[in-house]
Amino acid sequence: MFDVVGFQKLRMGSFGEDLRYFETLNSTNTTAAELARQNAPEGTVVLANGQTGGKGRLERAWFSPSDLNLYFSIILRPEPSRLHYIPFLASLAVFDMLRTFGLDADLKWPNDVLADEKKVAGILMQTSAEPNTLHYAILGIGINVNILRFPPELAGTATSMTLELGTHVARESVLASMLLEFERAYETMNDLEWMALCSRFERCSSYVRGCPVRVTEHNRTLEGTTAGLDEFGGLILETVNGKNIVYAGDVESCRKK
Ligand code: BTN
Repeated sequence: MFDVVGFQKLRMGSFGEDLRYFETLNSTNTTAAELARQNAPEGTVVLANGQTGGKGRLERAWFSPSDLNLYFSIILRPEPSRLHYIPFLASLAVFDMLRTFGLDADLKWPNDVLADEKKVAGILMQTSAEPNTLHYAILGIGINVNILRFPPELAGTATSMTLELGTHVARESVLASMLLEFERAYETMNDLEWMALCSRFERCSSYVRGCPVRVTEHNRTLEGTTAGLDEFGGLILETVNGKNIVYAGDVESCRKK
């Protein structure tokens, strides 16, 4: 059970003031999209204690057992020209939140948050748009907070705040801190230069520049060395055949450990 009253005492900004809490949902992103269609205001947060159909990037599932982690989605109505900033700002907000809890993270393109080279949080932004009109964006964030054991298929690649810090962490404080970090960044993004955001992301990521990687994208695999982000957030790769830009895919580090 998530302590909604305790969370509201800790919350500082306006995101999450309207918190729609559910014991179980299929996916907080789906419910947030329904609410956005009914004109729920920007900053409304949909939170579930557990999800039965948690969605990850690239049509994957997001493991969402009850009582342990955070699964939430924020309704946003950004300036369309800033839409591609949001997943990067969100992963940086998770990065900053983790630091306030004493955990050093690493960002893996496009917006995986790693600790000890394992995934501690993931971000899935979904939008509803028509040509020249952005109806809304749903920013879904899953943070592994107190989970201690993952199913075998995730055991080698996932971790949690508790596993890394060696202590139980209150989900209410994590959510309050996370929403404040993100809201601060979101408020100022219209004045933020893309290159400044890229530089910030690069400083928090050991993956996006100078890292030998293998990238799996749809039905092709590329190997090369990362060379930063392009103007839309694509990952620039220097390969033996020249420069390639990847917009969706999975990155695997080929660094020697
Ligand atoms: C990823 O693949 O890394 C993205 C994972 C995003 C998971 C979160 S949990 C809350 C929100 N609701 C969902 O169904 N997915 C996102």
